[in-house]
Amino acid sequence: MTPRTAPTTYRVKSFGCQMNAYDGTRMGELLAAQGLVPAAEGEEGELVVLNTCHIREKAAEKVYSDIGRLVKAGREAGKAPMIAVAGCVAQAEGEEIMARAPAVSMVVGPQAYHRLPEMLGHAVAGRRVTDTEMPAIAKFAALPERRRIAPAAFLTVQEGCDKFCTYCVVPYTRGAEISRPYVDLVREALTLVEAGAKEITLLGQNVSAWCGEDGKGRAVGLAGLIRDLAAIDGLARIRYTTSHPADMDDALIAAHGEVDKLMPFLHLPVQAGSDRVLRAMNRSHTAESYLRLLERFRAARPDIALSGDFIVGFPGETEADFAETLALVEEVGYAQAFSFKYSPRPGTPAATMDGQIAAEIMDDRLQRLQTLLNRDQYAFNRATSGKACEVLVERRGKLPGQWLGKSPWLQSVWFEGDCAIGDIVSVTLGEAGPNSLAGAIIPVS
Ligand code: 5AD
Ligand code: SF4
Repeated sequence: MTPRTAPTTYRVKSFGCQMNAYDGTRMGELLAAQGLVPAAEGEEGELVVLNTCHIREKAAEKVYSDIGRLVKAGREAGKAPMIAVAGCVAQAEGEEIMARAPAVSMVVGPQAYHRLPEMLGHAVAGRRVTDTEMPAIAKFAALPERRRIAPAAFLTVQEGCDKFCTYCVVPYTRGAEISRPYVDLVREALTLVEAGAKEITLLGQNVSAWCGEDGKGRAVGLAGLIRDLAAIDGLARIRYTTSHPADMDDALIAAHGEVDKLMPFLHLPVQAGSDRVLRAMNRSHTAESYLRLLERFRAARPDIALSGDFIVGFPGETEADFAETLALVEEVGYAQAFSFKYSPRPGTPAATMDGQIAAEIMDDRLQRLQTLLNRDQYAFNRATSGKACEVLVERRGKLPGQWLGKSPWLQSVWFEGDCAIGDIVSVTLGEAGPNSLAGAIIPVS
């Protein structure tokens, strides 16, 4: 590649999970610290970072088509953007991307993006660079301080996964479980709150496995971290995601009953309702043990809203197995959920298992599952209608004078009135839709 002028504007496009969203924000902060500014609304930017997700189907193809689109648009505009590929596809297929896509200047894995400024220097000099090393922790220490923050902020506390569910690429793309140190997290949380965050969602591929030592050298788990963060003045709400049933301890359950700032919401993926399938997935829980666990959360916090992830069509899943997933959904009554068709991920054990399921069967199962999940989400929303609750105002709505925020149960609530982004307003929930509710601000008397 020939040397080129340094880009002055950037756009980071993040796909996939909230951890990628967090990484995308931090990559933007890094680039801003180098003097680049975000591209104007509707423009791509002179540097485009594709922050990719590898968890499900066609991830790599999507990256190549995005690159192709950027190259074409650049050619038409007479100015090719500099392209960086980041995230889990970069980690898994870095070399191949470099070989197949000459327009890409930088490939950077999720554990290496703190080196973007240095890589940018190489790219400007005309040298293509790949960095997919996984030096645990180094990244966070090398990132700039957090500054402009939305009222609902993310904070990555843990990365990687040691669970090795047989369908999942995460243990390979994000590496082994690591917990960020307690003191760093408290410091970052304080900075976020000073910069305007009212709510912090603690993120990790396996967030409930977070562990560390508090300022006094005592071993603490996620519940201890949550309790200590709850002491921060100005921080009103704490959430965490994503958890694995194997790591939910008594302390975390108790925290849901005792820490007011911990929101009544739990995202706890189950994936399937058949113990045979769960065993083949290497999930280390049964349908029954999962249900008992949820009961304990409900006992600690009766109004807790439950959320889950599901995979239909795992290799060998029979109609009877799938019926057990539907039965589990009937029993739980989820407030929301994410459901996916199984997608073989190269290199994972399930990809080569016998009994891969035909696409039409997966489509049919997914549709039946989603019919139930949508019904339950709508029912949950209707059941909260009439309740008073606090809503964190996150952005303006589509209509003039309208605002959008989140209820404690993570529902989207829209309403009109006199408030500003970042306010926490008391609202009576009104008419419920499948995906959101109307609200009315309760006048302060
Ligand atoms: N196929 C389909 N869904 C998957 N997930 C993870 N790996 C796969 C796969 N290979 C889903 C799981 C997980 C969520 C983040 O993505 O439900 O909880
Ligand atoms: Fe993937 Fe399982 Fe780890 Fe979740 S717990 S990231 S599904 S291996």
